[in-house]
Amino acid sequence: MQIQWYPGHMTKAKRQMQEDIRLVDLVIELVDARVPKSSRNPDIDELGKNKFRVILMNKADLADKRKTEQWSNYFRSKGYFVVCLDARSRSGMKKVQEVISEACREKIERDQRRGIKNRPVRAMVVGIPNVGKSTFINSFAGRACAKTGNKPGVTKGKQWIRLNKNVELLDTPGILWPKFEDPAVGRNLALIGSIKDEILNLDEMAVELISILKRDYAGLLKERYGVEEEKDAAQILNGIAENRKCISKGGEYDYSKAAALLIDEFRSGKLGAVTLE
Ligand code: G4P
Repeated sequence: MQIQWYPGHMTKAKRQMQEDIRLVDLVIELVDARVPKSSRNPDIDELGKNKFRVILMNKADLADKRKTEQWSNYFRSKGYFVVCLDARSRSGMKKVQEVISEACREKIERDQRRGIKNRPVRAMVVGIPNVGKSTFINSFAGRACAKTGNKPGVTKGKQWIRLNKNVELLDTPGILWPKFEDPAVGRNLALIGSIKDEILNLDEMAVELISILKRDYAGLLKERYGVEEEKDAAQILNGIAENRKCISKGGEYDYSKAAALLIDEFRSGKLGAVTLE
């Protein structure tokens, strides 16, 4: 399955980000914990070089904890600071604050040596669409959401949110697009719901999801839908249609209905915590 999806305004967004990134010390990158690799933009490392870097593994509530841990260790080994998060809840925000301070310690200490006191760290949030950037900014800024307005000279036209005495956040997140050269990336993003369903073939996606689940989560499909996992993916989809009484007007099993149901149960977490890569 090949998914081509490259919005025309991407170049403009990238240029905007190049400008914005110059204004900050720290880049907070959100990824989707269910697809930590596919939901990254490869340009971000180039754009964010020389900046302090934090990766937030968001939607961790929907992801496989063991794999989230493995991915976190991987990112840490590459020099990023990492926090696993459910951006909808405010409980994880203390940890984010701690990690930001840790990530920027070098800058804070350098400022202190130069006699600069209390200059807040400037941060911006980046990520591909739908990873939870706005949700995160709302939770993180919370009630402390005092806009600091424009700063003449340096930050013309930019709104900053003063979070506390240590951190200022650029109030508009940077949006970047994932790379679709690898078909698995397109498929993964389609499965988590980042691409409009209208342009997708849900039947094919369901078959691919079944193959991944059979391979990485043996027993899950059997337990939830009573299907025999030794069968091939198309037969299993048939089994799901049978189990969930997905029947068309003509009285036949309705694969498309079963496919939509399976994908919906995966996306909403009803299927359990599943990570695709
Ligand atoms: P964006 O700015 O990066 O485009 O993403 P946004 O914050 O709009 O979030 C996209 C969707 O993901 C929202 O759901 C949001 O509630 C959900 N979301 C964000 N963070 C998390 C998380 O950590 N866990 C889970 N499970 N969901 C998260 P929506 O269906 O578009 O809207 P709504 O249902 O919240 O109204």
